[in-house]
Amino acid sequence: MKPVRILGIETSCDETSVAIVENGRKILSEKISSQIEIHKKYGGVVPEIASRNHLHLLPFVTQAVLEDKKMSMDDIDAVAVTYGPGLVGALLVGLSYAKALAYAANKPLIGVHHIKGHIAANYLRFAELKPPFLSLVVSGGHTSILFVKEYCDIVALGKTIDDAAGEAYDKVARTLGYAYPGGPMIDKYAREGKKNAIDFPRIMLSEASLDFSFSGLKSAVLNYINSMKMKNEEICPSDVSASFQEALIDVLCAKVDLAAQKTGQKTIALSGGVASNSRLRERMAEMAQKKGYTLYIPEARYCTDNAAMIAAHAYYEYLEGNCSDIYLNAVASLPL
Ligand code: KG4
Ligand code: ZN
Repeated sequence: MKPVRILGIETSCDETSVAIVENGRKILSEKISSQIEIHKKYGGVVPEIASRNHLHLLPFVTQAVLEDKKMSMDDIDAVAVTYGPGLVGALLVGLSYAKALAYAANKPLIGVHHIKGHIAANYLRFAELKPPFLSLVVSGGHTSILFVKEYCDIVALGKTIDDAAGEAYDKVARTLGYAYPGGPMIDKYAREGKKNAIDFPRIMLSEASLDFSFSGLKSAVLNYINSMKMKNEEICPSDVSASFQEALIDVLCAKVDLAAQKTGQKTIALSGGVASNSRLRERMAEMAQKKGYTLYIPEARYCTDNAAMIAAHAYYEYLEGNCSDIYLNAVASLPL
């Protein structure tokens, strides 16, 4: 059978990324142009600047991806694009570009939910991974436990009711004076700190709940830092980092374990920016070994935003004939 080649576009936040993926599993060509250096000086992503940069970069990145494999749009079977959730301006740029590309080349357009893309990042690295399985998506915008029944039949079992895990990482990091994005900095400094130096809360909500809440933990850390400053006492940033991180990871592990018990699923796939965290990977691996779970986590490059994961998920939508029309709109808070 002729392979299906999908060109994916991802612009939901600050990465301008385009990729060509074959049969949802094999990356033929990909480029990720990160705007981190641009946004760093503002301490976070500035939506308007992100949109303008996507607009400037997309034609170059797309051309580079095609040229890399000496391909043209004639070799592409469909154009996939993230249409939500994310920054609405940034999404609109990617979506408009994808629509024009698909329309001009007379190819189907496939709108992809960003979280479904994150889940599919695992398909690019682990050929044997097939539904059903559990997925934990932990990023700057999302913290969700999902049951992937089928490739396109995905149910959210729990999600954050306030801050996402990555958001808590970034806010704590900012208060500690680390540059944006703070997650990797906390990861680094926590390795030198004491995990039990400060007793931060583990907010589980009700015992049976698979939802998360991280705003209380974030506030507890910020209050601790502020009260130490007011008392003129010295703060040990690596101890704060390690203690905060351990509290957050305790909750992530407990909820994933609970989801596995509730559903009877023993295969767990992690993704999203926070899944590149070294301590989270270590703790999840320890739990998996102890409980007999099979754990999948892609390398850091595929945990964070990329277009290959969007094209990977789109392949399964393509097989089911789930194409979008030209009226597809960008949705900032798109439900699953
Ligand atoms: O998936 P992603 O690139 O974008 C969203 O969809 O949000 O995730 C970005 C988030 C940021 O909050 C960043 O601080 C966090 O992932 N992150 C990390 C690490 N690397 C990235 N958090 C903790 N430890 C890391 N090593
Ligand atoms: Zn993401």
